[in-house]
Amino acid sequence: MTSDFISTFEQKTPGSKRLNEVACQVTPGGISHDSRYHAPYPLYVTRAKGSKVWDVDGNAYHDLWMAHYDAILGHAPPMVVDRLKEAMEDGLHIGMAMEHEVALAQKVVEVLPCAQQVRFCASGTEATMYAVRLARGFTGRNVILKIVGGWHGANTDLMIDVRPPEYIGPEGAGLPPDLNSYTRSVQLNDIEDTAKAIREAGDDFAGIILEVAMGAGGFIVAEPDYLSFLREETTKRGAVLIFDEVITGFRLALGGAQEYVGVTPDLTTLGKILGGGMPVGAIAGRADVMEISAVTPKRSKREKVLIGGGTYSCNPLTMIAGAMTLNILQSRKNEIYPALAETNQRMCDGIRGVFADVALPVLVNQVGSLMEVHFLKEEGLPVRSMADVVNNTYKDKQAEYATRMRNHGVFLLHGGGLSVEHTETDIQGIVNAHRAVAQEMAEGN
Ligand SMILES: Cc1ncc(COP(=O)(O)O)c(C=O)c1O
Repeated sequence: MTSDFISTFEQKTPGSKRLNEVACQVTPGGISHDSRYHAPYPLYVTRAKGSKVWDVDGNAYHDLWMAHYDAILGHAPPMVVDRLKEAMEDGLHIGMAMEHEVALAQKVVEVLPCAQQVRFCASGTEATMYAVRLARGFTGRNVILKIVGGWHGANTDLMIDVRPPEYIGPEGAGLPPDLNSYTRSVQLNDIEDTAKAIREAGDDFAGIILEVAMGAGGFIVAEPDYLSFLREETTKRGAVLIFDEVITGFRLALGGAQEYVGVTPDLTTLGKILGGGMPVGAIAGRADVMEISAVTPKRSKREKVLIGGGTYSCNPLTMIAGAMTLNILQSRKNEIYPALAETNQRMCDGIRGVFADVALPVLVNQVGSLMEVHFLKEEGLPVRSMADVVNNTYKDKQAEYATRMRNHGVFLLHGGGLSVEHTETDIQGIVNAHRAVAQEMAEGN
């Protein structure tokens, strides 16, 4: 028997169902980004503006997904869109060096604490691939540590222990069987576990990559003691500390999570907001580490780390949209970041209240303008690592919750990221939708 909430979704979205049936014939699983799939079929949308998105059946949604947390200025911000229309007249992609990439690089170096140099690519996945390669090339060592539950794009190097308990070890078929020899995972915020892995890596410890607020884990935040431990250990051992700021960059603060927590990594990977809505990735960091990727006749192939080969690296539309977005964020930073955090606080408090009213135990993780609801097995259980997510929460309830939210006019996949376009009406609409969903989930229908 189909659950009521699935039937409701199907009744509301026949156009999406039809499109997905066609898509499944020509695309494996009907979709080209796994996270865009949700049961019973993905929502097909036609357009997005500000804080809203419209599906092919004409339903409007308050958007919390916001283009994979990219659209901090809202969907299709007029200043960026107008400038892009103008810029297109000068060529879509030329494949030669342009002034625009210099301007964006200067801006990144100006605002991101660790950035002495930056190099652009076309996706966050490439950025994390290059960051790992740089860490290995710079140190001459092999072992990279990552966090259990950390998603760094579909980068082969980091495709272990992303979705426990379903995947422990290589994240699916088709990956090198010895991946774990050189990439190992540790639990976030577990100093003992991490110290053990560092000891085991010994002289072969090249570095560690982590998100300060783990996206796929539901925005679990790395604690100050844990970050200090990592900073000290990597410095002491000459290893490279990498923050993956593909989500948090320019979001938690203009200077990203590293400004937010006051810890400066050696390298940072960037994406999403940096491209102002256009495809992007970047690696930024210490000049001595970045420098080994430079094309210089003096450096032999053995010494150089190859970064870049991307046809679309530094395409002018991305560089222009990115620079405009960062300029807007910079010029309004004292207003934007506190306002986003305050709105998120109010929204999350509202959400906590409606679940408390029906005695459904949840933890609403909240950091800056990001949030995610965890469904606890018991009130008060901690969620400080992916082990806690597995042991202390009902992860399967998240998909149910997200579908129910869609039925009540809010789009999210997992978690939410607010934009400057979210108004009081959006927040009330989102909290009211949570009220209805909390009631339904408590009653189990
Ligand atoms: C933390 C993090 N790193 C890397 C990536 C990969 O970025 P992209 O999807 O642009 O390849 C993502 C994508 O969601 C991400 O969230």
